[in-house]
Amino acid sequence: MLTIDVTKLSPVQLQNYLQYAIAPRPICFASTIDEEGNINLSPFSFFNMFSTNPPLCIFSPSRRVRDGSNKHTLENVLQVKECVINIVNYPMVQQMSLASTDYGKGVNEFEKAGFTMLPSLLVKPPRVAEAPVQMECIVKEVIHLGDQPGAGNLILAEIKMIHIQENILDADGKIDQEKIDLVARLGGDWYCRVTAENLFKVAKPLTTLGIGVDALPKAVRNSYVLSGNDLGRLGNIEQLPSADDIDEMQRNSQVKEVLDATIGDATNRERELHELAKQFLNEGNVMDALKVVLL
Ligand SMILES: Cc1cc2nc3c(=O)[nH]c(=O)nc-3n(C[C@H](O)[C@H](O)[C@H](O)COP(=O)(O)O)c2cc1C
Repeated sequence: MLTIDVTKLSPVQLQNYLQYAIAPRPICFASTIDEEGNINLSPFSFFNMFSTNPPLCIFSPSRRVRDGSNKHTLENVLQVKECVINIVNYPMVQQMSLASTDYGKGVNEFEKAGFTMLPSLLVKPPRVAEAPVQMECIVKEVIHLGDQPGAGNLILAEIKMIHIQENILDADGKIDQEKIDLVARLGGDWYCRVTAENLFKVAKPLTTLGIGVDALPKAVRNSYVLSGNDLGRLGNIEQLPSADDIDEMQRNSQVKEVLDATIGDATNRERELHELAKQFLNEGNVMDALKVVLL
């Protein structure tokens, strides 16, 4: 294990470790405007939502590393306390990257990057017409985190109006996680794309109170076969099966096969039962998996 005291790292080294580890990060493509009406558009991956009531996002334009100066986005929201947070998807990613170029003050990155300005309904900065979701926001507060190069400035943006392209909705009018085709930022030049192949679901543990991994027998917790993900799924079961149910499992043909093949061989029996439990887990049959490991 590499253990690092952050004070021993240069800001660039530290930023590198953090950006690779704290990833993937969603991208806030913020459009802002200054007092003179100059429009700006820039991406920020130090971004997330922090409250739904009030609906509030935070993104952070840092002081420029080269000279500690502030970015135009920050200067703009300090003058006109409004912004539009546009969500970035795969079809926009190259143009979005181009918009992050350090163009001079007053240069409109909508034009530089070839995006279409769509008038907002409530705020002055325009929306990015190409973005699948556009959120009109009022800037509630700006928190400056320091005066050194790289210091963040938290822009607390309260969402007032959301616009969603209809082609990313499902039949119920909700956002379809595949159709929105999101991208996110990681370390260095890395991005990731949310595709059907890499999406998966994890059942929420909120409604049912899982028994917990600590309720599983030690041999199961220390299994060489079952992974942490397997234990997590077993621990999410609401209650341990009854002794009768566990007994009943012995009549399952696959279990019977293992039991018959491993008479007098406790070590292999345990391993093979755990492998069978893993198979049941992969098939989504968590309760039978639990019964098998409890045999
Ligand atoms: C995907 C992506 C994410 C970025 N995230 C941030 C960020 O969170 N904070 C930051 O200060 N700069 C970030 N940048 C760099 C800014 O977009 C860049 O400095 C831009 O020129 C700022 O524009 P402005 O001075 O017009 O506000 C990011 C760039 C890209 C491409």
